[in-house]
Amino acid sequence: MQKAHTPLLSVIWNHDHIDLLDQRLLPEEIVYIELTTSEDVWEAIRHLKVRGAPAIGITAAYGVYLGIQRSAADSPQQLVEAVRDQVKYLSTSRPTAVNLFWALERMEKTAVSGLEKGLNTEELMQVVLQEAIQIHAEDEETNRLIGEHALSLFQDGMGVLTHCNAGGLATAKYGTALAPMYLAHEKGMHLKVFADETRPVLQGARLTAFELQQAGIDVTLICDNMAGMVMSKGWVQAVIVGTDRVAANGDVANKIGTYSVAVLAKEHGIPFYVACPLSTIDLQTPSGEDIPIEERHEEEITEGFGKRTAPQGVKVFNPAFDITPHRYVTAIITEKGIIEPPFDINLKKVFEE
Ligand code: MRU
Repeated sequence: MQKAHTPLLSVIWNHDHIDLLDQRLLPEEIVYIELTTSEDVWEAIRHLKVRGAPAIGITAAYGVYLGIQRSAADSPQQLVEAVRDQVKYLSTSRPTAVNLFWALERMEKTAVSGLEKGLNTEELMQVVLQEAIQIHAEDEETNRLIGEHALSLFQDGMGVLTHCNAGGLATAKYGTALAPMYLAHEKGMHLKVFADETRPVLQGARLTAFELQQAGIDVTLICDNMAGMVMSKGWVQAVIVGTDRVAANGDVANKIGTYSVAVLAKEHGIPFYVACPLSTIDLQTPSGEDIPIEERHEEEITEGFGKRTAPQGVKVFNPAFDITPHRYVTAIITEKGIIEPPFDINLKKVFEE
């Protein structure tokens, strides 16, 4: 039995502000910054100081509270209006991860229900803060459950490939796709993880390789274009990734490059698993085509390594996410268990239960 690992936390609520691990500086520097306003939160989300769907949702939830903390509202009605304004504002920080909108909606509903219960402004403030704390706490428990379910699909000694970072840094703790690796490690089971470096922002190299290595888990870093070779050698028995949004038909939006990995996995007969909380499943979005895909600044590609690596003036296309059609997805693993195809039917069922 291995010792449980104490990971770096990406988001810490500290009395009246957020201590946020600035993920742009990893792995070189471990720096926590203080976020005291909702503008700080918006900026941290937009500029990837915090990233990963669940961590974005958690941070935004606290952001609503920070936004109303100094509000001039002198009635509960005005305070609820202030919450609505914050929700609207923070929802413009990034477009793809549905957890952001899910968490903000929860915050608004909590405020409205507090108003309906007749709470005064001070009490309303407190229930809003408690809801953010609750969203944060639930995420840790949810990820542990995802990890338990996912681990039931893995055997000792397996090679597992992952893309981007769906680890503790992307969530409250454990991560989604990396949760089974942490649990396997706790149970003394050996998994050999291959981490795609994940161009252009290098979440795989900077974050996944970092957090798994810190935990003492066997991780090998590869460039994205090496995944096919590693699979063809028979070193990978499963792929597991996180996601920013699952559409009602099971199409999956995740970090750019995920689609290529899924196609490669199919070619090699390797199961392709997606791990996420139910809050990432968006039944309101019929298919992947309807998921908004964020496009980011061209400098992520042309100057991503701290120096210019492309000719001045070259045309650049830089989508942050892609869609993996559901036919490539072997199963979606949530806190409620393992969901298999047909996803259009089985995803709905999970919410009905
Ligand atoms: O642009 P990022 O770093 O926020 O993208 C993150 C991902 O694509 C993750 O795989 C996804 O959010 C799931 S995190 C549990």
